[in-house]
Amino acid sequence: MQIKDSWKEKGYVDEPIAEDIDIKAEIRRMCKEKNAVILAHYYTDGAVQDIADFVGDSLALAQWSAKTDADIIVMCGVHFMGETNKILCPNKKVLVLDLNAGCSLADSCKADDLAKFVAEHPGYKVVSYVNTTAAVKALTDVVVTSSNAKLVIDSFPQDEKLIFGPDKNLGAYINSVTGRNMLLWNGGCHVHGQFSLEAILKLKAEHPDAKILVHPECPAPIQKLADVIGSTAGLLNFAIKDDAKKFIVATESGILHEMTKACPDKTFIPAPPEASETIGCSCNECAYMKLNTLKKLYNTLKYEWPTIEVEPSIAEKAIRPIDKMLEISKNLKSAMAAKN
Ligand code: 13P
Ligand code: SF4
Repeated sequence: MQIKDSWKEKGYVDEPIAEDIDIKAEIRRMCKEKNAVILAHYYTDGAVQDIADFVGDSLALAQWSAKTDADIIVMCGVHFMGETNKILCPNKKVLVLDLNAGCSLADSCKADDLAKFVAEHPGYKVVSYVNTTAAVKALTDVVVTSSNAKLVIDSFPQDEKLIFGPDKNLGAYINSVTGRNMLLWNGGCHVHGQFSLEAILKLKAEHPDAKILVHPECPAPIQKLADVIGSTAGLLNFAIKDDAKKFIVATESGILHEMTKACPDKTFIPAPPEASETIGCSCNECAYMKLNTLKKLYNTLKYEWPTIEVEPSIAEKAIRPIDKMLEISKNLKSAMAAKN
């Protein structure tokens, strides 16, 4: 099917959908017809999570794509997730819903800058968070996600010299729990960097029975308040198993959808970002993740575009640190919900 130049400019298929079309039914029909599978991250909109075949954290999504026999993978998330899928499945068609769905954290580490930093620190191995471009992964010894970062770092001898990037908060957290002194890249996520310590303390005072769930991409003062620090799947699992009935959640607010579904008898309160009281913003939402909509999902499946391509010379190098991570974490089960 013809991909219009105007869509290429926009980065997604911008075609109106007739009102009498049952978008959800059509999405499922096309998946069956094309042997396509839909993966969604917990930060996407609830409607997108609900129609996906699998919903998970970054580790689960990578683990899943490594073993799928579908012909087409539709990644509802952000660009680096599509790249990871493509690197793991070079012979499959990998689709994303909108090429503009980037990541401020991945943007905070350019491959050229990292290459320079590595050259200035001979003898260091490079550990990269999965929230990086394929080009950065190609410069990396091992990839980690927030689910397995401690496990992967523990696999190195204690005196190994390590560079960790790009998330400085996750890096500092891993240094603190492993007793290491990894050199940290000065990068961060604009969503997790925005939570207000004061507002969370105020919420805790109003709800003293609430437990505080914190993603390790949050700054240290927020981490200090946490009853548990974990990946999206880790926080979800904690909320499911814990006896508490109320939780303050300091991560992107999309995770509340699955938390509320999994624990209908519990209350989840999204932690407010710094500016929420003054300018009424929704900074605890990742604007990139929210570019994933049902309409775009329908059009992406229909036109099998936008595709993700990774230059083979980069993919060849980037697969090694991803495979190494998957091998180290093969017994680590992230929460992954099969939906259909
Ligand atoms: P996890 O799902 O691994 O916790 O990752 C969070 C994130 O920021 C994804 O972009
Ligand atoms: Fe990137 Fe932050 Fe959005 Fe995750 S929440 S995709 S780290 S910008």
